[in-house]
Amino acid sequence: SSAFISCLSVFFSGILITHTHHLSNSTLHHLTQKLLKNYHKGVRPVQNWTQVTTVYLDLSVHAVLDVDTQNQKLKTSVWYQEIWNDEFLAWNSSMFDGIGEISLPLSAIWAPDIIINEFVDIEKSPDLPYVYVNSSGTIKNNKPIQVVSACSLETYAFPFDTQNCSLTFNSILHTVADLDLAFLRSTEDIKKDKKTFVNDGEWELLSVPSTYQVMHSEAGDFAQIQFHVVIRRRPLAYVVNLLIPSIFLMVMDLGSFYLPLSCRTRITFKTSILVGYTVFKVNMSNEVPRSAVSTPLIGVFLTICMVFLVLSLSKSIVLVKFLHTERSSRQNHPLFCFQRTSRAKPVDYVLPCHEHRPQVGFLQEALAQLQSISSCIQALDQTAQQEASWLMILYRFDKLLFQGYLLILGLYAITLCSLWAVWSSL
Ligand SMILES: *[C@@H]1O[C@H](CO)[C@@H](O)[C@H](O)[C@H]1NC(C)=O
Ligand SMILES: *[C@@H]1O[C@H](CO)[C@@H](O)[C@H](O)[C@H]1NC(C)=O
Ligand SMILES: *[C@@H]1O[C@H](CO)[C@@H](O)[C@H](O)[C@H]1NC(C)=O
Ligand SMILES: *[C@@H]1O[C@H](CO)[C@@H](O)[C@H](O)[C@H]1NC(C)=O
Ligand SMILES: *[C@@H]1O[C@H](CO)[C@@H](O)[C@H](O)[C@H]1NC(C)=O
Repeated sequence: SSAFISCLSVFFSGILITHTHHLSNSTLHHLTQKLLKNYHKGVRPVQNWTQVTTVYLDLSVHAVLDVDTQNQKLKTSVWYQEIWNDEFLAWNSSMFDGIGEISLPLSAIWAPDIIINEFVDIEKSPDLPYVYVNSSGTIKNNKPIQVVSACSLETYAFPFDTQNCSLTFNSILHTVADLDLAFLRSTEDIKKDKKTFVNDGEWELLSVPSTYQVMHSEAGDFAQIQFHVVIRRRPLAYVVNLLIPSIFLMVMDLGSFYLPLSCRTRITFKTSILVGYTVFKVNMSNEVPRSAVSTPLIGVFLTICMVFLVLSLSKSIVLVKFLHTERSSRQNHPLFCFQRTSRAKPVDYVLPCHEHRPQVGFLQEALAQLQSISSCIQALDQTAQQEASWLMILYRFDKLLFQGYLLILGLYAITLCSLWAVWSSL
């Protein structure tokens, strides 16, 4: 049995020997061991400490995932690349089977502490454990990252808005004397690079201009590189769903001014438009971006139109109330300017409203009616004259509202056109 055991031990040692032989035989293993044997990852990898380590950066925007105007956050997916030189990770490739490039664990080597200043949320990027090192010690660290960055988002031009968000890269600790930054590609190339952009979302990538700066602060001078992500909204869906219906509503509202002044149908009509506005505004609040600092101009215009509508509605109510009390107070007098069918039911007081007749010139008719109203009231007595002047005031007020409304509509059209012009010129 001892012979068996010795036989077994010889067998296992044989396995062990061949195994270690295979490992030491592997050039890759050999090289990796040689490189990391006396490596200290806590030390900036330069022979002469006065030598600056330059980190070359590159960034290409892959997708715009979310533009959160309420919290002023932009979520983008970018492809990020860092390249720097490590003087202690160089080898002579002809001494190692001609190996030109190997991968090393990122956790085992020195890496620059570069962060994005605008980070407001933890990055959800896959944790890639390896970097590529070539025989002259150049280290490439590529990784996709999801950046949630703080950004000042403007909404006043919605839906024709353009956003400009910066991603600022700098070392958190190293001054420019130790760690400098540089561009890997020319800034022109970075600016125009849209190859990797997923181009079918709501946002369109316009350009990525970039700048290099040295920031001076009390703690020292820091190198920083800024990439400005300039994106533009595609407005078609909002034009179809918001702008065109809002224009229809405003035009209908404008049309209601052509109903005769004293017509009760006008009140009903305006009330339905008011309901329309309200429903529209409730609907819109889901789609329109909200922010504490700016509000979309189209929302402001809708609110102004609502104010005009409410003013005009209250004026109509005052007018009808006025005419009604006027008539009930002078039942003895023949009021030939109003057709009255029954005294018992006030609903039957049919006002001179010609909605059944399809002719144009309602305004002139209203004017004529008003004139006849004022003339007949004037004929009655002194108080009637006073009331006529009230009517006149209401009529003038109506005209004023109409002109104001036209002005607002014109401004709305001009604003939309200029926003669109600015949008399309970018
Ligand atoms: C490893 O060594 C074995 C035997 O010594 C040899 O056959 C093999 O080619 C070597 N492998 C390499 C990659 O050099
Ligand atoms: C380091 O570099 C500086 C200038 O490049 C040189 O003056 C200095 O002698 C170098 N030091 C060493 C130890 O090589
Ligand atoms: C690399 O090694 C080869 C052979 O060992 C030698 O001829 C060559 O000069 C070395 N190159 C450098 C840059 O040291
Ligand atoms: C290592 O990579 C850098 C940058 O890509 C390049 O300039 C250098 O020539 C490469 N070295 C070798 C030996 O290929
Ligand atoms: C974006 O903003 C930066 C400063 O925040 C500015 O330098 C740059 O010109 C802007 N780019 C565009 C296209 O507006």
